[in-house]
Amino acid sequence: MSKSELLRAAHIDAIAVPRHVAIIMDGNGRWAAARGLPRAEGHRRGVEALRRTVRAAGDLGIQFLTIFSFSAENWSRPSTEIRELMMLLRRFVRHDLAELHSNGVRVRVIGERENLADDIRRLLDEAEQLTKNNDKLVLVVAFNYGARQEIARAAQRLAAAVSAGDLAVSAVTADKLASYLDAPDLPDPDLIIRTSGEQRLSNFLLWQAAYSELVFVPIYWPDFDHATLESAITEYRRRERRFGGLVARTGS
Ligand code: IPE
Ligand code: IPE
Ligand code: MG
Repeated sequence: MSKSELLRAAHIDAIAVPRHVAIIMDGNGRWAAARGLPRAEGHRRGVEALRRTVRAAGDLGIQFLTIFSFSAENWSRPSTEIRELMMLLRRFVRHDLAELHSNGVRVRVIGERENLADDIRRLLDEAEQLTKNNDKLVLVVAFNYGARQEIARAAQRLAAAVSAGDLAVSAVTADKLASYLDAPDLPDPDLIIRTSGEQRLSNFLLWQAAYSELVFVPIYWPDFDHATLESAITEYRRRERRFGGLVARTGS
């Protein structure tokens, strides 16, 4: 290796880990179908993959992990599948919250909470409240989440501030609008991973993904583990982030 290559490698090592990783956990149904199992079994195995991934993210030193667990458009699925997904969320919070808390994980939730069942809303509030002082890893759960809906909610809050006379129309900038999003204090994701081979965002973090690196992995979500996360990060490290400028920055 030449001296400049060595320097570059050292630089890459120092910034090896993306600060914020977001994951579109896709392919539970196809994982199950490939094994002749009901889709619900794929979702159950998906929760196990999630547990592994939260642990792996902590071990790798990732600070923010956002997971897409139920989209605003997923309500169009059969009611039996929706019931199963709601049940799994309840179970995940009830069974895993204490352990997440003792591991220093802070839980945040983004998405629309108004039209969720009361007990689910309470569980999500409880998870946020209990863990609010933790700082090892922030786990952002995108539940009943759609990015266009989130941007519309932000626009609504912003419009209310304008019409109340608290905000001048001329003060409406991209940063100002972003400050009304569901979790405005979080950094944008450096890396977005989607499993299952699909190459689309499906209404996930459209605003925040402006300069995210996208990595699509061909495996189904229930097979995701520490090694898959690491190899997605290795791919991320090969990317050159330019943010519209001319100077490349590798990694975040
Ligand atoms: C991801 O797996 C879980 C959710 C969207 C809730 P899918 O249920 O979308 O599985 P596929 O894409 O049909 O295989
Ligand atoms: C995106 O996956 C939503 C979640 C992973 C929760 P979908 O399976 O709903 O996305 P499409 O329908 O294939 O675009
Ligand atoms: Mg899917």
